[in-house]
Amino acid sequence: MGGLIPESFIQELLGRLDIVEVIERHVPLKRAGREYQACCPFHDEKTPSFTVSPQKQFYHCFGCGAHGSVIGFAMNYEGLEFVDAVEDLARHAGLTVPREAIRKAQPSAGLYEVMEAAACFYQDQLKTSQEAIDYLKRRGMSGEIAKEFGVGFAPNGWDNLMKHLGKRFGGDGKRPGGDEKKLSLLHRAGLLSEGKSGSYDKFRHRIMFPIHDRRGRVIGFGGRALDDDGPKYLNSPETELFHKGRELYGLYLARKGQAKLQQIIVVEGYMDVAALAQFGFHNCVATLGTATTGDQAELLFRAASEVVYCFDGDEAGRKAAWRALEATLPRLREGRQAKFLFLPDGEDPDTMVRSQGAGVFAALLDAAQPLSEFFFDHFTAAVDMASIDGRAKLVEMARPQVEMIPGGVFHDMMFSRLEALAQHRLLTSRSRAAGGSGKAPIGRKPAQYRTPMRTALAHLVQNPSLAALAGDMNRFSGCDLPGIEIYRELVDFCAKHPNMTTAQLLEIWHEHPARPHLITLASWQFPGEEKLLAQEFRDAVTGIELQWTELQIAHTPKIVDLGPDEKAALLQLQQHRQALIETLQGDQTQTGVSG
Ligand code: UTP
Ligand code: MN
Repeated sequence: MGGLIPESFIQELLGRLDIVEVIERHVPLKRAGREYQACCPFHDEKTPSFTVSPQKQFYHCFGCGAHGSVIGFAMNYEGLEFVDAVEDLARHAGLTVPREAIRKAQPSAGLYEVMEAAACFYQDQLKTSQEAIDYLKRRGMSGEIAKEFGVGFAPNGWDNLMKHLGKRFGGDGKRPGGDEKKLSLLHRAGLLSEGKSGSYDKFRHRIMFPIHDRRGRVIGFGGRALDDDGPKYLNSPETELFHKGRELYGLYLARKGQAKLQQIIVVEGYMDVAALAQFGFHNCVATLGTATTGDQAELLFRAASEVVYCFDGDEAGRKAAWRALEATLPRLREGRQAKFLFLPDGEDPDTMVRSQGAGVFAALLDAAQPLSEFFFDHFTAAVDMASIDGRAKLVEMARPQVEMIPGGVFHDMMFSRLEALAQHRLLTSRSRAAGGSGKAPIGRKPAQYRTPMRTALAHLVQNPSLAALAGDMNRFSGCDLPGIEIYRELVDFCAKHPNMTTAQLLEIWHEHPARPHLITLASWQFPGEEKLLAQEFRDAVTGIELQWTELQIAHTPKIVDLGPDEKAALLQLQQHRQALIETLQGDQTQTGVSG
């Protein structure tokens, strides 16, 4: 998301700003121990669960799960895009975002101009093409809707657009798009294709749907074929302006009427968005022929507190829905809701609303399945819930997904539901089994089970300098404990950047798949004293080593089957295990904590 703003600049900015100072400009903070507290600005509450840590340079709400660095705060609180938030904060910090970066991060104005001109051209062409008008009539699209969505028509032929824009932008009229510079803009805008004998119009003989960015500028097109020639839909390629995974078709129009919608409906196709709008549902958007991404899920929740994903009821639709669910889970927090609506086989929202009417569609929306239901149905259908094995499998599959949900009421309710289905108290067994200090983190969120691995990762995220105490990594060679890869990576990274704050680290790890997990760990509370911190971290690492040793012992074949060397190796493992246990016990008596 950082676009082309250099990472080093982001780091400098985060190093220069104090998150407490910035947040205090908007939200009155009260000191509470090492952190600051307030009533959360992102959800309604009467007792403060919003905390800001000067040490981590990170905020976190135990109520709704909102979290982030000072940049994330500016984005969430003021509704800014990443680049705008960085620029705003830089101004406050007296820094200038490197010129080059701004220029690159904000694509050249000429590209927008070309896209706008192309959209106008296609719209004009629609007015005079009986064939295209007939097609849209046949599909039942009204003139008003075609106009509202800026629907156009790319006529048949290889160079209609090229010729037109060449003239308009001062070409010589002989060579299509004569002006080399403009021609290259047309290329960069993704409007041309390249063949053996030169360039030609990419979109031919298609109904054209312009795709707008959030400011209403045309950044891409989707073209629906009029005949069976080529793919049914052709979309703009990825360009400087257009990134499929970060845009939603129809979002600009949906928000134009109302900045904050109560509900937003996600469908699969351009035609679906247009048809639903025609029937009064002006709050619909479509993904652009791709699976729903995390960026899109975030956009959806910034536009509305309730998101309804509406997909076909077939296998492909269910798969798409599951992908959407996975993109949504890490972004759920109090005040955000997701639902799923599956249409009967063979129907899509377009055909459905036209054949059944707005009333029926509204009723279907009302009856949409809450995310929790879809989630658990998906898993319970896959296992034998009548058997212990099946229910254990359920826990194994569903628990990691539940843990993707940020801490908060919804997370806890999903957890309780999982326990109920599994007929097993996961939380209690977790907290009882908790090793180390065994203390639950402060805050209202029930403790996530503090495994040694999680504890070690949490310490590293919060205090990268602890990586110096990680010791010899060779002892984990061959180890396949869950999380060990991230642990290795994090130790390595932190050893190189011991002075980073949590916020800086998480910003660099922005695209890392483990980031949501690390964010949860970033909010765990640990003792303030440095000596205790170091001890806890060392114990956690010893704990990991103990688990790994136990695992190796467990995987050794029966003693009678072993040769003398293998017997010696096993004995060594057993002695090592004993030594590790003694180390842990010694540490606990030292620090006065009983196990
Ligand atoms: P569908 O195949 O479901 O088409 O594709 P549709 O939306 O019902 O279209 P009509 O009603 O036949 O006109 C859904 C979406 O998937 C993407 C497009 O974004 C489309 O709107 N898609 C589909 C493509 O990108 N390319 C294709 O060839 C087909
Ligand atoms: Mn359709």
